[in-house]
Amino acid sequence: MSHTEENKTVEGHVGASSAPSPDSGDQAGRAILLEHITKQYSRKGLPAVDDITMEIPSGELVTFVGPSGCGKTTTLKMINRLIEPTSGRITIGDRDVMAMNADKLRREIGYVIQGGGLLPHMTVGANIALVPKMLHWDKERIDERVEELMDLIALDSDTYKDRYPRELSGGQQQRIGVARALAADPPVLLMDEPFGAVDPLTRQGLQDSLLEIQASLHKTIVLVTHDFDEALKLGDRIAIMSEGAHVVQYDTPERLLAAPANDFVEGFIGGGAGLKQLTLNRVTDAELWPAVTCSPGEDAREVLGRMKEAGGHKHVVVVDERNRPLSWPSRQKVERMDTIPGTKDPGLATVSEESSLTDALNSMLVSNAGAALITGRRRTFKGVITVEVVMDAISRLRTVEPEEDGGPVGGNGEDPEHYDEDPGSIGEAPTSEIEDDDSAADGSAAAASENDSDAQVPSALSGGDDEQ
Ligand SMILES: Nc1ncnc2c1ncn2[C@@H]1O[C@H](COP(=O)(O)OP(=O)(O)O)[C@@H](O)[C@H]1O
Ligand SMILES: [Mg+2]
Repeated sequence: MSHTEENKTVEGHVGASSAPSPDSGDQAGRAILLEHITKQYSRKGLPAVDDITMEIPSGELVTFVGPSGCGKTTTLKMINRLIEPTSGRITIGDRDVMAMNADKLRREIGYVIQGGGLLPHMTVGANIALVPKMLHWDKERIDERVEELMDLIALDSDTYKDRYPRELSGGQQQRIGVARALAADPPVLLMDEPFGAVDPLTRQGLQDSLLEIQASLHKTIVLVTHDFDEALKLGDRIAIMSEGAHVVQYDTPERLLAAPANDFVEGFIGGGAGLKQLTLNRVTDAELWPAVTCSPGEDAREVLGRMKEAGGHKHVVVVDERNRPLSWPSRQKVERMDTIPGTKDPGLATVSEESSLTDALNSMLVSNAGAALITGRRRTFKGVITVEVVMDAISRLRTVEPEEDGGPVGGNGEDPEHYDEDPGSIGEAPTSEIEDDDSAADGSAAAASENDSDAQVPSALSGGDDEQ
């Protein structure tokens, strides 16, 4: 998961986070290193990307955030060579990407764009199978992989596999886009404003799914966004950029909030840095309340008895046969029932384990309840979080200590390691030599389609302080 202890203390950049977990594929992430990368689209004028040097540690999710036109997309696309750098060097693991065949490279890097970029004339299954097909996997292996991925993104494969993209919602299409990018198990995933086109609630769900997926797969992910809150929520590390892809600060979310490097960064954070720290706390970090559960068809008297026995619970969670919550009636309601109904309450306040406390608070507000149900994998019921728990977390928010060993390099110009001494530049400590991550894997990895219809999104920086 994103903000775990091991990720906070990344050191040597081949930390525990690069080890695949038991349920993952075998392609955990690899470190990406940009060295003095410049992109000059035309001879005249300023470069779109100006001499950026940045290390993206293996197995981490790094977000790029900055005003529209500052060079985020250009930087991202140079990693899979959809755009060729004017100068500089990019390595993934120990391999120089410029020395590789560009098509082969792109098959080894998952690429997700806004809307999912699905091919409209192909079914969902065919879209996901795109890269494995290019890699000549046999049919059985491809079918298995499609099933596995649809399970991962929580879409029922029997229902959706043979549908066409236009038959799906925006959020579902976006999920398929992620599945397709992961199809051949690439170590690296590049995502360009992936959740920019969906409504806020769907976006929250997509973000949670990404964190869930990342918790088991440990890919190296670079995600571009113009939404600072999204950057905070998703990033193990955030690069705040200004025009020319100047890295203004490259830091963990905790440190960004606690010690913004300058006014530009403060402008992004806007008001309520304290409240934003809630975004960094997962509901699983909080203490969940136990709950009494029951099943449809049960005798209401018996259920009331259990509630009393459990210490006088005021609510009971009705779960289906797979332990997924259906409704959450109060004791008064149950008292008026004979048997427990099996109907699903559409307004039920549920949040996933990967959600932040902010998300939980949001759900409570939307549903007008003082608590929300927490669900885990496959939406199974885990526990209850109350508004009191969230309030308690707010009162316990503390300032964050600096990283002792400094983080990875990120900056522009000659010697970004020492930009610390240059006021108004980046605020990151020196770092040790870059080590190559284990580059075990061969290239059985994936890219999204080479469909490069990357829509430009109008930037709506939350409280953004525009320096352009
Ligand atoms: N193909 C291109 N040709 C010329 N200029 C471009 C091209 N693509 C992007 N630019 C310019 O490069 C700068 C950075 O663009 P981009 O990387 O798309 O920024 P961002 O993703 O941060 O919005 C902008 O000034 C943009 O106009
Ligand atoms: Mg862009």
